[in-house]
Amino acid sequence: MSFDLVLFGGTGDLAWRKLMPALFQAFRHGTLPPDGRIIGIARDDLSDDQYRALIRSRFDAVDLDKRPTPQEFERFAGLLHYLRVDLSQPQDYARLAATLRERQAETVVMYLATAPALFTTVVQQAAAAGLNRPNTRLVLEKPLGHDLASNRAINEAVRQVLSEKQVFRIDHYLGKPAVQNLFALRFGNALFEPVWRREHISNIQITIAEDFGVEKRGAFYDSTGALRDMVQNHALQLLCALAMEPPINAHADAIRDEKLKVLRSLKPWTPETLDQHVVRGQYGPGKVNGESVIGYRDEPGVDPDSRTETFVGLRADIASWRWAGVPFYIRTGKRLAAREAHIVVNFREAPHAIFNAPPGTSNKLVIHLQPRDGLEMHLLAQGQENRRNGSTLAPVQLNLDFDKRFGTERVGAYERLLLDVIAGRLNLFVRSDEQEEAWRWVEPLLEHWRSDQREPRIYAAGTWGPSASSGMIARAGHCWSEEC
Ligand code: BG6
Repeated sequence: MSFDLVLFGGTGDLAWRKLMPALFQAFRHGTLPPDGRIIGIARDDLSDDQYRALIRSRFDAVDLDKRPTPQEFERFAGLLHYLRVDLSQPQDYARLAATLRERQAETVVMYLATAPALFTTVVQQAAAAGLNRPNTRLVLEKPLGHDLASNRAINEAVRQVLSEKQVFRIDHYLGKPAVQNLFALRFGNALFEPVWRREHISNIQITIAEDFGVEKRGAFYDSTGALRDMVQNHALQLLCALAMEPPINAHADAIRDEKLKVLRSLKPWTPETLDQHVVRGQYGPGKVNGESVIGYRDEPGVDPDSRTETFVGLRADIASWRWAGVPFYIRTGKRLAAREAHIVVNFREAPHAIFNAPPGTSNKLVIHLQPRDGLEMHLLAQGQENRRNGSTLAPVQLNLDFDKRFGTERVGAYERLLLDVIAGRLNLFVRSDEQEEAWRWVEPLLEHWRSDQREPRIYAAGTWGPSASSGMIARAGHCWSEEC
């Protein structure tokens, strides 16, 4: 199958950090269709060879085992091309259209890895140049807008020129092998479904923690914040995967319909829940992995009086028969104690205790997303020490390490998603109505913070966030996984 992949933002951060390495891995694994061109688009004046040399030099920052050998790069470079395009100039889109016409590839992928403020312009200009053909696929990177209105405006502009099935909205968390395993766990096994509900589950926790700060993205991050950067998309997509009803089949719309229902069932915010169920934090100076680090307000590009949140902890409630009364806790932040993403499903205690069980040791299922990818089932058993006291149970774990089981050479998130775009598989992409619903739910928080005169809670870098986050969940009698 022949394809042209047009990479808007071809010299940008995302292109060289994520997309080129992913495309190269697909090329190395032989899964990238061989008859393809990758056309980098940017404003710089570069020849094809200069672009190839630039991409080559960027690979030096990639993990050693993912770096191409000189021979491999030479073959991969054969796919790489470059076109100078000023995104505000109609004649530049006409040149792009002419370049694409030369070859008449079966599939044309337009990947917008640019600032979201440019999405509408690019989509409209590209269509005006005739680039919205039936074989066109448009990939939109997050953030798609900065609130519901701007998200809708982008979706509306896209809808004017392309049909929904031509649009691939990326949430790279959906491409992670661990997240696909979550779908497999729930819908490929009959074991969990009967207990996956309020009668058996007491609460569910989603943690996406990062130990690094805002790095070189201070200015972008300062106008974005953790709620828009992580919660509106990645964390809510995980929540959907956990809470959705079993879809009728594995087709994209069957899955997306169920996710949409979850988003629509999220309980709207009230003055009380805005006050009690959300914690907004910002990192101060501290120590991460033994090294002293500066606070957020001292980061380059960040306003020294910034009130942008680098941490969010919140409780979401789903109004449905399955989930009524089961809190879904989400926390995510920068400069936390570790880079670690996991989900903890806490089951209820045994209804009638005939053994002595240590307090707080009811069953839980821990789904590790990264850095390791695996499942842990926490159970209670009779341990050795119980010879003395035969009725006391000890916590034990069933452990499944997917990296060991399937090898670490599994398909990475971007590699998987890029191959899906080229093949036209929409399952792991977000539909416009899902995205709008997620914005609708987070928007009251943004408004609340805008009008709230209080500062975000400052937490020391290298910790698990403000202590209020523990307080928030303790109010319902729960605790974060590292605390209990
Ligand atoms: C991106 C956010 O969407 O996801 C970043 O913009 C964040 O701020 C990143 O660091 C996390 O992705 P991953 O795959 O490293 O967990």
